[in-house]
Amino acid sequence: MMKVTDSSKSTKSGPNLTWSGRRHIIDTSDLTLDEVEYLFSIARRYRDGGPAALPLPQEFHGQGVANVFYENSTRTRSSFEFAGKVLRLNVVNIDSKVSSVNKGESIEDTGRNLAAMGFKIIIQRHSAAGACNLLVQAVGDKACIINAGEGASSHPSQALLDAMTMLECRDNLRGAKIAIIGDITHSRVARSNLWLLQLLGAEVHFAGPPTLMPSYLRELGAHVHLRPEEAIKAADFVMALRLQLERQQSGLIPSIDEYQRVFRIDHERLALGKPGIKVLHPQPMNRDIEITYSLADDQKFSLMDKQVSNGFALRMAILYTLLTQTKLTQTNKL
Ligand code: NCD
Repeated sequence: MMKVTDSSKSTKSGPNLTWSGRRHIIDTSDLTLDEVEYLFSIARRYRDGGPAALPLPQEFHGQGVANVFYENSTRTRSSFEFAGKVLRLNVVNIDSKVSSVNKGESIEDTGRNLAAMGFKIIIQRHSAAGACNLLVQAVGDKACIINAGEGASSHPSQALLDAMTMLECRDNLRGAKIAIIGDITHSRVARSNLWLLQLLGAEVHFAGPPTLMPSYLRELGAHVHLRPEEAIKAADFVMALRLQLERQQSGLIPSIDEYQRVFRIDHERLALGKPGIKVLHPQPMNRDIEITYSLADDQKFSLMDKQVSNGFALRMAILYTLLTQTKLTQTNKL
């Protein structure tokens, strides 16, 4: 097994590692430690040196990347788009509100058409778990599929950028205690993080209202607490999650006031963690509901800006890797 650290000096960076040939990034539960290390090593080069640190070979310039987002997004969509553009790819955003999906076209037919046009990468966000697998079946070996967030189930690039950000604070995550607080039931970020953090050797502790806490988490190796204080005690990192107001059924929480009182992360609760504790949030955040204004903006503790800039580098690394390290059937000259 390979050692996962943030050592940019590692001789095992970039081309010295080999990619498995995996063509699609669907969830962190699929990834091996070697694959994670491969993506981190490329992402760190882009983080430290920009696109010039590892230029995409000319033969790939101009290839097509389709961003197909059926759900709202700011960071994920724009960072994949920007990452593609700085690598000299042709990025097309498909606006689901004005696409043929509104005429009843299926995910599979949309994907098949994009692959037939020659798009080499299709990045999809969808409200249904399993939507990317439908796309994978539809495109065969003509395109790479990247899951940019799917229902409440998975969001692999978010988990990868979260772990990459934590690894800027420690050599590795073995034995690290990570507290994930909030609306766990509706959070794809929570689930993809659980798989990845455990792969990296961390202990994952969840806390949230019982009505927003799935019952199977313990079976997956996680620790589950009713009170945030228990999860945060002696933690190295706290991840606050958004209360997903758009996915709530009525009656899951007594009131927003009550939620704030019990679960909002503030300086006082954070002080229960280890010295040097840091706070993450995948954003968008409901300021003052799951995290206080002052903590969100406190650069001593908050890693949120780093998460966003690492997300850009990580998404460049994903695009670079899938294009250069996988074999696709040619559909057209591009
Ligand atoms: C998250 C998402 O969409 O899953 N945001 C993101 O991608 N950064 C989290 C959320 O919506 O709360």
